Amino acid sequence: MSCVRAVRGLAPVCGFQPLAVLSRGVSFSPHQVASDASFHSVSFSESDHPRVLITGGLGQLGVGLAKLLRKQFGKYNVILSDIRKPPAHVYQSGPFIYSDILDYKNLREIVVNNRISWLIHYSVLLSAVGEANVSLARDVNITGLHNILDITAEHGLRLFIPSTIGAFGPTSPRDPTPDLCIQRPRTIYGVSKVHAELMGEYYHHRYGLDFRCLRYPGIISADSKPGGGTTDYAVQIFHDAVKAGRFVCNLRPDTRLPMMFIDDCLRATLEVLEAPPETLGMRTYNISAMSFTPEELVQEIRRHLPDLQVTYEIDPVRQAIADSWPMVLDDSSARSDWGWKHNYGLPELVQTMLNLTGSDSRKARAN
Ligand SMILES: NC(=O)c1ccc[n+]([C@@H]2O[C@H](COP(=O)([O-])OP(=O)(O)OC[C@H]3O[C@@H](n4cnc5c(N)ncnc54)[C@H](O)[C@@H]3O)[C@@H](O)[C@H]2O)c1
Repeated sequence: MSCVRAVRGLAPVCGFQPLAVLSRGVSFSPHQVASDASFHSVSFSESDHPRVLITGGLGQLGVGLAKLLRKQFGKYNVILSDIRKPPAHVYQSGPFIYSDILDYKNLREIVVNNRISWLIHYSVLLSAVGEANVSLARDVNITGLHNILDITAEHGLRLFIPSTIGAFGPTSPRDPTPDLCIQRPRTIYGVSKVHAELMGEYYHHRYGLDFRCLRYPGIISADSKPGGGTTDYAVQIFHDAVKAGRFVCNLRPDTRLPMMFIDDCLRATLEVLEAPPETLGMRTYNISAMSFTPEELVQEIRRHLPDLQVTYEIDPVRQAIADSWPMVLDDSSARSDWGWKHNYGLPELVQTMLNLTGSDSRKARAN
């Protein structure tokens, strides 16, 4: 069989399909100019460490993940990529490369030229942004995903793709939501994430792709801004509380959603990436830390900032999305299969976020 047949043209076969058949009809010359020509110091020496590429790395989660992975595997073994221009501190902190996941050939060059062995696929349009631009979300979240799947299967990479609480919908059980249940999301973001879960698992069974996936709750971080999701309020409230002493919440006070502090999320990602394959009973796991409502979060923050004023101006798009999502995620499989355990509950989260956002705003005032 030809090595350059598109996966869509394959006749079904039993068992694993050799990875080589996944190659698309893209010509590649070893003499072409490397896409990483701008890096000066990427090490090409052999080592036991994986060579990691993070797509969509300039969003809320990528820079923090790169920092954690660089500590573990070495600065030059972890490449951040995105279509945006990196801020100076990110550019100076380690390798960065432009990569548009819709450009299959460019992505393939980056993987080949940098001997990438793990790919962490973060590029996405999140829930609220996706509803505002469905056709772009379909391109990035679905067409881009297909590029990633083909390239990682073709080159034998380990692939991590985060999924989300948004992969569930109003007909899923909401309290708690198990790993396996009805998934009929009503956002393009959720639909594309269910597609990613299923396609990753399909490529795993059909082609042996080492696909790993965690369904993240809403992630809360201090030094990186959220990118247009439904849980963004739980980040913004800390900045507004510290700076202005007041906050306008766009979700109803009783909207319960699963949430996690960024350090727990990034550690879980590293843990599942490093887990020996035999410990993984599944390829897609729920992970969880806590669930709270805006009202409960406000009460906890008021223990530190008693004068915080909060008003509610409900955004109907975000509220409808939140009302269709899980209230509590059941992550018992992650806990029993590979030992997942969160460190931050609500009190620890609030204390840490207030410390971090408070010191940021003190720094800003001093400058
Ligand atoms: N942040 C959360 O609360 C949360 C919760 C659940 C799941 N996740 C998942 O985690 C991952 C990272 O999330 P995030 O919050 O950092 O997202 P984000 O929206 O902050 O960042 C996404 C990045 O993707 C980039 N991007 C967009 N189009 C691209 C393209 N064509 N090619 C390359 N890059 C492109 C953007 O420039 C952006 O920097 C996503 O897959 C998301 O679904 C996040």
